[in-house]
Amino acid sequence: MAKSPPIPPGLGDSAQTPFSTPLSIWDAGCGFAQMGQWFAEAGHDLTLCDLSRKMLARAQQNFADRQLEATFLHGSAQSLAPELPAFDLVLFHAVIEWLADPKTGLQTVADKVRPGGYLSLLFYNRNAFVYNNVLKGSWRWEHILSDAYIGKGKKLTPPNPQYPEDMLEQLEALGFEIRQQTGIRVFHDYLSPQVLADSDLDELLALEYRYCRQATYRYMGRYVHFLAYKPDTDS
Ligand SMILES: C[S@@+](CC[C@H](N)C(=O)[O-])C[C@H]1O[C@@H](n2cnc3c(N)ncnc32)[C@H](O)[C@@H]1O
Repeated sequence: MAKSPPIPPGLGDSAQTPFSTPLSIWDAGCGFAQMGQWFAEAGHDLTLCDLSRKMLARAQQNFADRQLEATFLHGSAQSLAPELPAFDLVLFHAVIEWLADPKTGLQTVADKVRPGGYLSLLFYNRNAFVYNNVLKGSWRWEHILSDAYIGKGKKLTPPNPQYPEDMLEQLEALGFEIRQQTGIRVFHDYLSPQVLADSDLDELLALEYRYCRQATYRYMGRYVHFLAYKPDTDS
């Protein structure tokens, strides 16, 4: 009998979210805007920006191909932020680890979440970077011990991977309450190519979904996602 694919965590939850009206959403560092696209398809009002003109053009094309409308802005999230209104939801996904000054960048972007709104923060996890490199063998260990990778980065490796505890501390210092924590690829990236080739992907996904929000495992994912709420102190 064919196995049914595992149900991703979050899909069940989203049906119960309190939002029904269109949300104003800023996708800061949108890339090709696949995620912005999901929100636009669900009827929300999107503002998208990217530092790269090329990425922004791809995002615009992506929206145009689907007859979706949005506001597209070229520039860094930090330089555009002062001109923007506050939003119900700000997506800051896989960008912070590319910034020269992640802490100030986070503060500037998080400031654009309205009181009573949410920040969706996804970042490249330094724990996973360390673990993966140590598992590669002793030739990588000096590199990890000396922290030589910080601030450098390569084409696909960001210069400033972040520890989840540091992100948590910064978000709490900015007045946010953490509503959900999820690890992305908590097992996948630790498996050898041979193990992966011999694996049932649905079963691996079931494992990922089962453990991605459990303490320890969620801080082992290649990426970590935090959903953070900014309390409305006036209400
Ligand atoms: C890894 S991609 C992530 C794209 C998208 N957020 C996603 O999750 O698919 C990082 C994107 O951030 C953009 N970027 C880097 N620094 C930025 C900045 N300071 N402001 C806005 N975008 C930035 C890059 O051009 C790139 O498109």
